[in-house]
Amino acid sequence: MIRVNQAGEYGAAQIYKGQLAVMGDNAPGSSAIHHMAEQEQRHLDAFDKMIAERGVRPTALQPFWKIAGYALGATTAAMGPRAAMACTAAVETEIDQHYQEQLDELESENDPELTRIIAEFREEELEHKATAISMGAEDAPGYPVLSAAIRLGCKFAIGLSKRI
Ligand SMILES: [Fe+2]
Ligand SMILES: [Fe+2]
Repeated sequence: MIRVNQAGEYGAAQIYKGQLAVMGDNAPGSSAIHHMAEQEQRHLDAFDKMIAERGVRPTALQPFWKIAGYALGATTAAMGPRAAMACTAAVETEIDQHYQEQLDELESENDPELTRIIAEFREEELEHKATAISMGAEDAPGYPVLSAAIRLGCKFAIGLSKRI
């Protein structure tokens, strides 16, 4: 769980880095993205710390997620501010589901630290999704196709990072 979560939070931080690189600081949505990026960094720091403390092997796919996350962010931002928000809405839909599945699994484990962190981060991911939708994610051109493609990519990334 810690491996895949660290990979995901790393990817999320890269997505926002890519978006901000394209959009700059003054575009519509930039300040919301900054705020989300700061929270992703906090999520990443927490899982980095757990990886070190618990001796978890990090994903070997980190270099790939670096490029894939950044490219996804930069591409969606280049498509426009609503497409950038559509990216967040799609990613957070998958992450919400992923974290909820972990929370269900953790019910039979005794790991209050991990449970608390995942529950707290899941709330923030849901806020990101709500922010993205309130900022026009669903009005992005080609939203259904864009959203489905990004969600599929997330599922694929989650599946791989659990194992590799
Ligand atoms: Fe996050
Ligand atoms: Fe997020």
